[in-house]
Parts: sequence; structure tokens; C-alpha cells
Amino acid sequence: MAKIFNTIEVNASENYQVIVGENLLEKVGEFLSPLLSPCKIAVITDDIVDGLYAKQVINSLENSGFQVFKFVFKKGEESKNLSTYGKILSFLACHEFSRTDGIVALGGGVVGDLSGFVAATFLRGIKYIQIPTTLLAQIDSSVGGKTAVDLPEGKNLVGAFKQPSLVVCDVKTLSTLTPEIFTDGMGEMAKYALLDKEIYTLLSNNAPLESLISACIDYKRKVVEEDEFESGLRKLLNLGHTPAHGIENLSGYTIPHGKAVAMGLDIILSASKKHNLITDKDFEDMQEVVKKCVGKISCPFSLEETLGHAVNDKKRSGDFITLIMVFGIGDCRPVKVEINKLKEYLGY
Ligand code: GLY
Repeated sequence: MAKIFNTIEVNASENYQVIVGENLLEKVGEFLSPLLSPCKIAVITDDIVDGLYAKQVINSLENSGFQVFKFVFKKGEESKNLSTYGKILSFLACHEFSRTDGIVALGGGVVGDLSGFVAATFLRGIKYIQIPTTLLAQIDSSVGGKTAVDLPEGKNLVGAFKQPSLVVCDVKTLSTLTPEIFTDGMGEMAKYALLDKEIYTLLSNNAPLESLISACIDYKRKVVEEDEFESGLRKLLNLGHTPAHGIENLSGYTIPHGKAVAMGLDIILSASKKHNLITDKDFEDMQEVVKKCVGKISCPFSLEETLGHAVNDKKRSGDFITLIMVFGIGDCRPVKVEINKLKEYLGY
């Protein structure tokens, strides 16, 4: 039978495949078998994805000889905390999971980040696979090994780098997303379009979603292979994220990440134009692509409010913060800005 999925090989501290295609959930057991001998698998998911996809995944794993235990938590960013993290660790310990057992993260970015952090730390690390079911998780958070939980003081403040052993992106799962959650993923897609000319062209030419997803993953693969632990190049993936984190935080996380990233891109594009880093034509074209992804952008907070939160940003180092600025389509570069000049630098 002809191959009906696309495979992207990531060569990082762990080498793994990202498989992109349709109707892949029923093949998860088959994909996992070469990586893990029959063992215990904890399927970690949220209460929405549970009802939609857990059964298919569990059936597939059981048919391949795995013994499956399911942990379900309440959907949403508010579950990505130390309390849920502790409950999952206890769940694994109660079921006597060992280092040769594994975790399957089934869901969006919250499920992936939380499960990945559990996998990074339980018994000092066990294998995990990502089955991202949102666009945002498929093109960004499931690939590259960033795992984390939030603290009351801020997002992703505790975490570890831990590459998955496999990522399975079933694009059919995107059909059950609400338009709002789908558009949230398109905010991250807009980020990739500004970072990479090829993705920009694909988007401008209305390429099919599956090729766009593969192109974003492949771009991320290249970045992660060169700079897995974010000492340089990987910082580019934070384009738009300094203002975005402020916006998410100010909204009490009611504005989701991808939408906040799109608002952040708007702020960065305007500042790039103000500092003559880009031509008026590129500015307009890039604004158009962002709009095409997420619709009209209107940030409910002033720049002053938004940037007030930047002082706690992970990208801060001493009195400086590294912003990623746009110098052209597919040409983004880091610029160090003094924290107390940030508002002036980004202001209109
Ligand atoms: N989401 C940005 C990164 O993985 O580096």
C-alpha cells in the first residue's frame, strides 16, 4: 500500500520521527512498537480530548500489546500546574511504572507540556510520545522537547528539555477544533511565515493545511537540530512572544497563546517599520499575511500595560531583553534592548 503519511526525522539529543497524515490514531500502537517493547503506557489527556480520541489510541496500543493506564485532567491552562504534575507522578508511582515504561501525551499544548515535564522527571526520565490534537501543538509545542508547568507567578517557569521519542500528528483531529482554537494555531503559523520565506510563500499561495503543517515542523526541526537548548538560533522562535506573554498574563490567560502571539507580531512589525528595519511594502505584505492567518488584530491592552510584564520575561538578562525583530520576509534577528527603553523602542 502507498505510504499515506509524511515523516520528518529530527536529529537532536534523541533522534525521533514526526509523522504527519490522516487517520493515524489507529496506528499509534504500530508506530510505537519498534520504540518500546510491550510495557505499561500512561495515556495522559484532558477531559475534552478524552471523549474524542482516547478510545482509538488506547485500542491501538492494546492491540499492539501495551498495558494502558489513563490519566484525565480538566482542560485548560489552569491545569498546567504543580498540583496536576504531582497527581500524575503519584498516579505513575501507584501503578508501579518503571524506567522502561512510557507516557503518551494526547491533546493540545497543555497536555504535551505537562506530560513532557512528567516524562522528563519521573524516575529521572522515561520515554514519552506526543500525539498533538491542536494546530498549535502540531506545528510548535509537540516538537523540540520544551516541557513545562506554570507557577502562579508566570507561565512555563518550571520545566526541562526532554525530546519525545515520537510525534504523531493526525491532521484529522483538527476537524473537531472550534474555530477559535484553530485560529489560535494560525497565530503561530503566522510567526513561522515571517521567519521563513518558503512558509510565507506557501501561505500566500493558499497551500493545503497538511503541507503547511509539515513545512512548519520541518522549519522547527532545522532550528532544533542546530540549537536544541536555545543558546542562539532557537531564540528566533520567540518572535512576538515578549509582548504575547504580557498580553496572555494581563488577560488572565483568557486570550490564548497563539492569538497573543499574533498581537505580539503586530507590535514587533510596527516597531521594525518604525526603526526602518523593513520597507513599507514588506511591512504591508507581512501584516497582510498575519491578517490572513488570524483575521483583524486588536489588542485590548496598552503597550505600557503589555510591556510591564516583560520584566519577568525569561528572555530578560540583567537590564537587557533580547527581542526578535523583523528585517525582511524570512529575515528575523535578535536585538538587545535595555529594559527601561523597551516601551520607547516598541512604541509607535
Ligand atoms: N515554542 C518555541 C520553541 O519551542 O522553542
